[in-house]
Amino acid sequence: MKQYVLALDQGTTSTRAAIFDQKAKMIGVSQKELKQVYPKPDWVEHDPKLMMKDLEEVIFEVLKKTKVSITQVATIGITNQRESVVVWDKKNGKPIYNCISWQDTRTAQQCREMKDEEEGLDAYIKETTGLRLDSYFSATKLQWILNNVSGARRKAENGELLFGTIDSWIIWNLTQGESHITDFTNASRTMLFNIVELKWDDELLGKFTIPREMLPDVTHSGYFFGLAKLYGQEIQITGVAGDQQAALFGQGCVEPGQAKNTYGTGCFILMNTGENIQYSTNGLLSTIALGFDGKIDYALEGSVFMAGAAVDWLRDGLKLITSADETEAIAKKADPDSGVYVVPAFAGLGAPFWDMYARGGIFGLTRDSGQQDLIKATLDSMAYQTRDVLQAMAADSGLKITELKVDGGASANNYLMQFQANIMGIPVERPSDIESTALGAAYLAGITAGIWNKDTIFKKRSVDKTFKPKMDDYTRNKLYEGWHNAVKRCMNWAR
Ligand code: G3P
Repeated sequence: MKQYVLALDQGTTSTRAAIFDQKAKMIGVSQKELKQVYPKPDWVEHDPKLMMKDLEEVIFEVLKKTKVSITQVATIGITNQRESVVVWDKKNGKPIYNCISWQDTRTAQQCREMKDEEEGLDAYIKETTGLRLDSYFSATKLQWILNNVSGARRKAENGELLFGTIDSWIIWNLTQGESHITDFTNASRTMLFNIVELKWDDELLGKFTIPREMLPDVTHSGYFFGLAKLYGQEIQITGVAGDQQAALFGQGCVEPGQAKNTYGTGCFILMNTGENIQYSTNGLLSTIALGFDGKIDYALEGSVFMAGAAVDWLRDGLKLITSADETEAIAKKADPDSGVYVVPAFAGLGAPFWDMYARGGIFGLTRDSGQQDLIKATLDSMAYQTRDVLQAMAADSGLKITELKVDGGASANNYLMQFQANIMGIPVERPSDIESTALGAAYLAGITAGIWNKDTIFKKRSVDKTFKPKMDDYTRNKLYEGWHNAVKRCMNWAR
């Protein structure tokens, strides 16, 4: 009997496949780390073909591990790192350049110049796309490929090339070129999509010189996206969403005012604002939370670029640890009053500061500072950045945020979660299953395929632990003030 849901999660640093049973319980997951390519200091790329190879491998492994036959898979849900760009040849499926990752800031200078030269452009982008003119989003990355790969622009204008965010690339490959499509959440991160009228925006396509012919169709996140061809079987794809929106759904944040924080490569804090677009005056983005069940929900988002990636830096760059799991015990032993701060602005700063020229810094070192202080301060930086965003969210929405739902890798770190609760002064709720991203994609696909019911599915969610704040106001404020002093010193550094 076809009773399982296969969720595919192509993230920034890893590719995973998970199988969910009829009760929406994850029964197995396989994961492969994705190779990062750094051709120049501010450039970050991925090999799109390798991504597909990894995906095939993790699908094979998870089916083997769970002893589920492909014939028992009823539907597929896809979720993905957002904003990252792939351009490929329509005829042979070959990418014409590596995937330019969302972390890549090669177009920062161009964005700055456009902002300075074209009065009103930033405001137009905010009004139509909910975003801001920044190299984080897809538009200037796509334009860079068209301008820098020989013959690309001419081919794109002739309709020979296709553009996709990672979901489109995966769907096109799985359906063997039958579907060139994306969903509203992914489209809303391109800086080319009008989130009010729900269509590609001609004016922005003109500004960024993007030929319309190469863009995918855009639809709701719960929809029939095509038939994936796997091991001689055809399996429907019925759920697609950008990873942060999938996690919001997976956490059950379907009512206005509900918010979650996913600790992945970065930290992405999203708050559902219902059917109305809430424009931010505090450095946040307005974005599509989900197109589902015949309606569009919007969200406010605070994107923090470096979270788990900063712990990777401790491991791979500084070689202070061999695995992220070690950080909890080390941070617990470190002096809580060391006064050491790490600002991991390795790729500039995202929300709420938006400074492409900020760079990382370490502050407050004394003669007795040791590696444990650096490790603790790096974990703390995730909590401080989260507070920065939540404060902006409360100011924008006028809502008092009384609790934060968390998920993603680093939410397993008890030290970090306790410090997060302490520094915000509100409880932090961690679910039993911290893989909310895959769960959200599975829910979308499973509900759309009629396997689960949207009214009862969230009741299956259970809480592992709620961390209550245990810090007095004086200490909290003093620590937070120190963080802002450190951040100020990092801003504009590379300009
Ligand atoms: O906007 C970028 C975001 O989608 C990446 O998420 O989990 O791959 O770090 P993650």
